[in-house]
Amino acid sequence: MKRLIHLHVNGESREVAVSPDQLLVDVLRDDLALTGTKKGCGTGDCGACTVLLGGRPVPSCLVLAVDVSGQDVLTIEGLATNGVLHPLQQAFIDHWAIQCGFCTPGMILSAVALLGRNPCPSEEEVRQAIAGNLCRCTGYAQIVEAIMCVANAPCAAPRD
Ligand code: FES
Ligand code: FES
Repeated sequence: MKRLIHLHVNGESREVAVSPDQLLVDVLRDDLALTGTKKGCGTGDCGACTVLLGGRPVPSCLVLAVDVSGQDVLTIEGLATNGVLHPLQQAFIDHWAIQCGFCTPGMILSAVALLGRNPCPSEEEVRQAIAGNLCRCTGYAQIVEAIMCVANAPCAAPRD
């Protein structure tokens, strides 16, 4: 039997009827049409489904939606403001940190959480913060560079 839950998603109050075994990633994608959150492994290993729950990055494929009723959820769709990309989104573009893009939403949200708690991380701290976000395309160098750029803004000019 479905149960009504309340979520505060990207600053908006949302109500959705979910089954007891429904995962947060599926509620976001299938019920709320927030398909920026990607579902890769479904086992907590790839980080593609990362969202911020109460400001902390979590793999939403490991979270039951019924368990997080009443909480704040931030997805990639909630980052831009009035059509202006979040600095991390812009930096990922400027530094060629996106190839296929499948890892990008989760990667950026992990970086948002990092910079929220530590605005001036070392490169090692950046690498640790995104350790749970796998990227099969970029080799991570541009991703780390993009995050470091925002952390240390104003930064060096982006690559050509
Ligand atoms: S889809 Fe959730 S960690 Fe891979
Ligand atoms: S850009 Fe393709 S997996 Fe990261």
